[in-house]
Amino acid sequence: MHTNSGRLTKDGIRIYEASDFAGMHAAGRQAAEILDEIAPHIFPGQTTGEIDRLITEMVTVSGSTSATIGYRGYQHASCISVNHVVCHGIPGDKVLKDGDILNIDVTVIVGGWYGDTSRMYVAGKPNRKAERLIQVTHDALMKGIEAAKPGNTFGDIGHAIQLHAESYRMSIVRDFCGHGLGRVFHAAPNVLHYGRPGEKAVLEEGMFFTIEPMVNLGRPETKVLADDWTAVTRDKSLSAQFEHSIGITAQGAEIFTSSPKGLFHPTYG
Ligand code: MF3
Ligand code: CO
Ligand code: CO
Repeated sequence: MHTNSGRLTKDGIRIYEASDFAGMHAAGRQAAEILDEIAPHIFPGQTTGEIDRLITEMVTVSGSTSATIGYRGYQHASCISVNHVVCHGIPGDKVLKDGDILNIDVTVIVGGWYGDTSRMYVAGKPNRKAERLIQVTHDALMKGIEAAKPGNTFGDIGHAIQLHAESYRMSIVRDFCGHGLGRVFHAAPNVLHYGRPGEKAVLEEGMFFTIEPMVNLGRPETKVLADDWTAVTRDKSLSAQFEHSIGITAQGAEIFTSSPKGLFHPTYG
């Protein structure tokens, strides 16, 4: 068994060593590569089950391990959340149709380190509202990452994300949040995607966590379906999400899950 490196802050947030960044880069890159490779397989007529089968194969071929298969009883290498599904959509028989928007979320383990990332894809051509939702959600994540630097607080991150989404009259989901990660999948802190400047824990060099805002076109409320995983918007409005795993350095945030091919944003802008 490995021993965990670094120390814990008074808020229970692990501070990793400079040498731990390399492991997170390798894991994050592997997850991002899989999201790059899956892009050509998203089209009208495709099923979410086939997409997950391809992802499972990619994980195997890469020599990494899926963090989600077997996690709390979950049985797939990805979560695929289509249209009004907010997160944790279970891949299956669902057939994508023209204009559907979907989030694919993949977490892999490489050398004991976790790489967790998700992004939006479009089957065929999105309508203008869907395109705007995707753009605003992407930009909200990036505003959050810009606020992620030593001396700022987690409230500063949440505030930046919330301000951006709400300025476009879209809403931030409250029921799910980002999380610390490293040699574990989910750890302190809960990274909220809303909040007030200056509140919550102060960021320090060596913290590893995800930021993964979910933004709705309608109201923020969600509910979980009878399968105990699939979260949907209560008002059935469209929802989008992007997720990066990052590490805090003296300069700011280092993104571990950048797309090697520059495909993070689905319109590739
Ligand atoms: N990858 C998700 C996250 O961002 C967690 C998925 S857990 C699963 O934290 F079991 F649903 F896969
Ligand atoms: Co995550
Ligand atoms: Co994820």
